[in-house]
Amino acid sequence: MARTVWDSSVGKKTVMAVSGLIMLLYLVVHMIGNLKIFFGPGEFNHYAHWLRTVGEPFMHYEWTLWLIRVALVVAVFAHATSAYQLSRRDIRARPNKYVHKKARASYATRTMRWGGIILALFIVWHILDLTTGTVHSGGFQEGHPYQNVVDTFSTWYGNVIYIVAMLALGLHIRHGFWSAAQTLGVGSRNRDRALKTVANALALLLTAGFLAVPVGVMTGLVS
Ligand code: HEM
Repeated sequence: MARTVWDSSVGKKTVMAVSGLIMLLYLVVHMIGNLKIFFGPGEFNHYAHWLRTVGEPFMHYEWTLWLIRVALVVAVFAHATSAYQLSRRDIRARPNKYVHKKARASYATRTMRWGGIILALFIVWHILDLTTGTVHSGGFQEGHPYQNVVDTFSTWYGNVIYIVAMLALGLHIRHGFWSAAQTLGVGSRNRDRALKTVANALALLLTAGFLAVPVGVMTGLVS
């Protein structure tokens, strides 16, 4: 049964929609959490510490965080695998022998593919930058994310990488949210306008909320 669903294009699109919505939920929470940086190092670092102690005493230190990490890795993997397989199918099914020599995927499809690749690369960079500190520009300090974030946005390339990724994220969510709604059967003739508005608002809010952090550091509001 699961195999049949996974083998169908609708099944893969459903996997994309559900995993996308899980990641979207994470991003809304992450964006709001990031805005705490405007309340100063004490509050921001305390929040990061709280992320590791949520659920105590039932949960051990970092257990809840690890559960979230595992759910996110599964979501990213499911999203990327179904995207790759759908795009292989799309290429194979293209009637380019008869119609155009080079039939190209639609603008939205190409933007989603490139956006997805940019975001995947960004996530790897971002974790190496602010979670493990491997590629971090300053002296990475475990448990002091406030200073680490300030260091990241004190370099020109840190700003370029994050700003490009946030713009790609906005475009990806704008189209992705809309597609997910269609796949999950939420779309209808009278609802489509409202859905487009929600998709645009979500994309704009997330992009602006995330961008506020580098802009805050660049303008000296966060230092
Ligand atoms: C300006 C934008 C962003 C800033 C300032 C930022 C900041 C941070 C910081 C400080 C951490 C480390 C938290 C800690 O260890 O306590 C973190 C972790 C993380 N961020 Fe972001 N983030 C941004 C955008 C994003 C975006 C767009 C994504 C996803 C597409 C993302 C995904 C993650 C993930 C997956 C982690 C690792 C969580 C973990 O396993 O500990 N972030 N971020």
